[in-house]
Amino acid sequence: MIVQNQRKIVAVADPAELAKAAADRLMARIAANDGRVAICLTGGSSPKQLYALLATDAYNKRIPFDRVHWFIGDERLVPPGDSRNNMTMARSIFLDRLAPASHIHPIPTDTANPGESAERYQRELKLFYGAERLSPERPLFDVVLMGLGPDGHTASIFPDEPALAETERWVVGVPQANVEPLVPRVTLTLPALASCREMLFEVAGSDKRAILTRVLEGENLPAARAASIGETIWLVEAAALPENFRGR
Ligand code: 6PG
Repeated sequence: MIVQNQRKIVAVADPAELAKAAADRLMARIAANDGRVAICLTGGSSPKQLYALLATDAYNKRIPFDRVHWFIGDERLVPPGDSRNNMTMARSIFLDRLAPASHIHPIPTDTANPGESAERYQRELKLFYGAERLSPERPLFDVVLMGLGPDGHTASIFPDEPALAETERWVVGVPQANVEPLVPRVTLTLPALASCREMLFEVAGSDKRAILTRVLEGENLPAARAASIGETIWLVEAAALPENFRGR
């Protein structure tokens, strides 16, 4: 493990090991909380293997689904059921079969615009949290899962876009995405995502090495700015790790 600034970087051999390491960290966080647990999932392709692993008996039997709530860090403004919908992906791989429906908290997409979706989801998060303001002593989430986009975005916070500078709102609308799918998005903001015991990035593939290098060099990119008020862990497949981080 490499400790860099406030992030811990854990190198893993391949995507299967990445999913297992993420699943084990998630299980440890769930086990550490004997009350209501809140997990913020992510979209993209990287977490699919993790979700598939959570669906297996080896993992799902150890998850107390009656007290775990599942949220999503960002959404594409497409209807539920559309293959581009992030929560639909998580639901179809494991949630629908295992979690009580009332514990699955999708970002609503049946709205006139992303701003309205964001307001509704912010209201839902505040109701769940039970306060208007986030307190560092009481994180909103136990775990926040994250991915790294090719341009350095994370969740749907894109470089040089207003969402990156948001300090008050918990959720904002993003009228235009910088990368595919080019549909409006809704995203939790950096302060809302930070309100967790653990932020867990999953990065895989050699095509991520260049952008990960820029993140680790401290460029002002959304993924570089995203950090937990607790622990921030980057699980990185060896192929995505910059040269100077190999073998350390
Ligand atoms: C989204 C995601 C996004 C994703 C990264 C990485 O809605 O697209 O939440 O932030 O995590 O783009 O995506 P991959 O895992 O597909 O590389």
